[in-house]
Amino acid sequence: MHEFRYVNGELNCEQVPIRSLVEKYGTPLYVYSQKTFSDHFKKLDQALGALDHQICYALKANSNLAVLRTLVNAGSGFDIVSEGELRRVIAAGGNPKLCVFAGVGKTAREIEFALKKGIYSFNVESEAELVRINQIAGKLGKKAPIAIRVNPNIDAHTHAKITTGTYANKFGIAFEEIESIYARAAKLKNLKLRGLQMHIGSQLTEVEPFEQAVKKVLPLATRLAPKYNLEFFSIGGGLGIIYDNALASGSSDWWQKPEAKNLLNPEKYAATLVPLLKPLSLKILIEPGRFISGNSGVLVTRVEYVKQTGKKNFVIVDAAMNDLIRPAFYDSFHQIIPLRKSKAKEISSDVVGPICESGDFFAKDRMLPKVGEGDFLALLSAGAYGFVMASNYNSRGLAAEVLVNGNKGAVVRERQNLDDIWSSERIPKWLIA
Ligand code: LLP
Repeated sequence: MHEFRYVNGELNCEQVPIRSLVEKYGTPLYVYSQKTFSDHFKKLDQALGALDHQICYALKANSNLAVLRTLVNAGSGFDIVSEGELRRVIAAGGNPKLCVFAGVGKTAREIEFALKKGIYSFNVESEAELVRINQIAGKLGKKAPIAIRVNPNIDAHTHAKITTGTYANKFGIAFEEIESIYARAAKLKNLKLRGLQMHIGSQLTEVEPFEQAVKKVLPLATRLAPKYNLEFFSIGGGLGIIYDNALASGSSDWWQKPEAKNLLNPEKYAATLVPLLKPLSLKILIEPGRFISGNSGVLVTRVEYVKQTGKKNFVIVDAAMNDLIRPAFYDSFHQIIPLRKSKAKEISSDVVGPICESGDFFAKDRMLPKVGEGDFLALLSAGAYGFVMASNYNSRGLAAEVLVNGNKGAVVRERQNLDDIWSSERIPKWLIA
């Protein structure tokens, strides 16, 4: 469920007509629903209620400070992947003691910073990293809490660029090597073995790969936990969301419909995994990003031109691949709807941005109500991996972000001034006559 729906023919975010935000703040504009972030968090938290657990939101999905603060207030911990992300969590009022640090390439500086801040665990992805963390912890006179990321070699049946749990991927340590790595880690004096971690991929829409991976890793966790006095087992993130029927999935009755029956949701996820995990008697961590933020945000854009080429109807909008790269990068589908509900005839359209690349598109051959210059469109499910993947390509400024809470909206990121794009660039003296 989410909080984007038509009210009197106007697309609302909670109780705010999105048009009123666009009139005030311009486009392209990211609009987020605070209630959706916290509802999704609560839903997952409740589904896992039978387990001693901690949700560590993966802020790579959406790291705006206001979003983080919403989740801090809900009781979330965080899955971080860089010093920058840890600094963000702290800036938002989050607790480093509820942070786990993932990633295959942690630098010495990042490890040192995270150690000083007292994070809950480093999720270690190689033997070399283990040695490095041990050495830095020794230098600081600390014991570094660690978990090893096991790569269970399970195919998550998702997009190739976001599959992580097979041996063709760079992540984690091979299942067969885990026990010897723990034995080695236990001998390193400056480490505290705290847990075991895995993550098999993102945007999983079936429960089976999760089930398979948990079943495969459970005997390992059961052996390792008492031997090394482990506290937690993290089963990673990856819960998928609905992209194709995103608008409909905001209503509670949609979930009763036959087309929703086979889809993954927190209840199904928990019903399968909780009975498997309960006997382990460890704290269970999960690291959802997209599930919490994906359908909590939309990207609103203005139609600048409509152009017919004889073959195609191009709807040229003012947002581009630099604002939302997912269609260009993963061929991903985002539902596109007009801000004002339209009865206009549907025609096959390509929705494209102004950037000088054919990859700059949001939809191809999509049946959409006929639109014209000045109309506004919302790209749904843009709350995860949307703004965070934005760039200044073509010297386009970063979009503004607005958070809605009930009948209020507040800018949570100002639109970037164009001068700021090059403010850290310098022209060397020798180029200036
Ligand atoms: N934990 C780890 C170790 C991860 O690598 C990730 C995501 C997550 C948790 C959170 O996964 P989620 O619950 O959001 O699926 N940019 C891509 C997605 C990249 C995911 C990277 N890792 C996209 O737009 O689809």
